[in-house]
Amino acid sequence: MTNYIYKCSGCQKEFGAKEIESNFIYLCPVCGKAEKNRPLEGVLTVEYDYTELKKKLLKKIFLKLTPGKFWLYPDLLPVNFKKFRDDQLIKLALPSDQLLKYNINKREFWILDDTRNPTLSYKDRASSLVALKALQLGITEIAAASTGNAGSSLAGICARLGLNARIYVPKNIPEAKRIQIEAYGAKLIVVDGDYDKAFDVCLEESKKNKWYNRNTAYNPLTIEGKKSAAYDIFISSQGNIPDVIFVPVGDGVIISGIYKGFKELLALGWIDKLPKLIAVQSTGSDALVRYFKTAKFEYKPANTIADSISAGAPRNLYMAANAVKESNGFAIAVTDEEILSAQKEFITQTGILCEPSSASVYAAYKKLVLEDRISAVEKNLLLITGNGLKDIISLRKLGGN
Ligand SMILES: Cc1ncc(COP(=O)(O)O)c(C=O)c1O
Ligand SMILES: [Zn+2]
Repeated sequence: MTNYIYKCSGCQKEFGAKEIESNFIYLCPVCGKAEKNRPLEGVLTVEYDYTELKKKLLKKIFLKLTPGKFWLYPDLLPVNFKKFRDDQLIKLALPSDQLLKYNINKREFWILDDTRNPTLSYKDRASSLVALKALQLGITEIAAASTGNAGSSLAGICARLGLNARIYVPKNIPEAKRIQIEAYGAKLIVVDGDYDKAFDVCLEESKKNKWYNRNTAYNPLTIEGKKSAAYDIFISSQGNIPDVIFVPVGDGVIISGIYKGFKELLALGWIDKLPKLIAVQSTGSDALVRYFKTAKFEYKPANTIADSISAGAPRNLYMAANAVKESNGFAIAVTDEEILSAQKEFITQTGILCEPSSASVYAAYKKLVLEDRISAVEKNLLLITGNGLKDIISLRKLGGN
């Protein structure tokens, strides 16, 4: 017996964990749809019995945990950690000192620095959980579509755990990310098209060959894995969580995961309000921003220097929109020029080498400060999700040499 169920984010129907997992079901069996160039419908979430957990778990004990070691809270994750040895799990640990405080232009803000993760991006949070689930289910082949980071992450995590990864990438993948995927020994499939095409091809091939699929949002464990940042922030800040969190948005899974983590902390009674989530996109890939304006999804091919947040059809659009709305946040787009200039300033002022997707949050933060749209007394946190060395061409554009 597991202590969790799956629930559809669309029709709200609930399903037993065994029914979903042993039949390798990913989307809702009733309303799930994965259509070309469209957000997924019927994305499943994992739900726990929070009333029971409230009786069992204690905030003051939770706050003593080491951040970055997600297996230390097994009651809140859908994997049977008893199946794994400590020496396997420790290979998946993230740095425990990711929460950093900065003061630039007399404004203080926090950073969650995911650039030092095992494969240098936030994606390790999802890949680790998915890979452990595959191991638990006795599967050794995992496939994923990726703009680069999810793929290099899955490739690296699979190499750590002795699994095989197949990564479908778009033609425009930055060279460093492609090399990283290949260096880990994963099978690389360059699709003749963009990320949206890679996503669809990967789904078809995984189904045909019965590989475990890690496509973001499609596999509900990607959202579960990505919620761990909320717990890490909670532990690192000793419960004094930020008021506002800036999140780079591509497919909208990171923001959905962060929201879910904080919602759970709220359900456990450990925090009394959700942080406001500000979704940051590039003007060349702004489906969520447009969705808020028109209340409908319209496919527009994405084109931005920030390749990690380049998604014409954000697969988790509806859940991301809900996260923004329910947390009282909003969505904002910044231009590629603003991203590049913010990347330069951020790197030189913080010493953290981030990639353009992560610089977008600093660009948005600066813009909102300038426009006086965020309060100086609120605690703001910027999610820095990817390492700058993954995109050398953008780094070169920053100039200097
Ligand atoms: C570094 C980085 N930041 C942000 C994102 C956006 O995350 P999501 O697609 O879950 O919105 C990605 C996704 O690839 C990423 O690699
Ligand atoms: Zn459904």
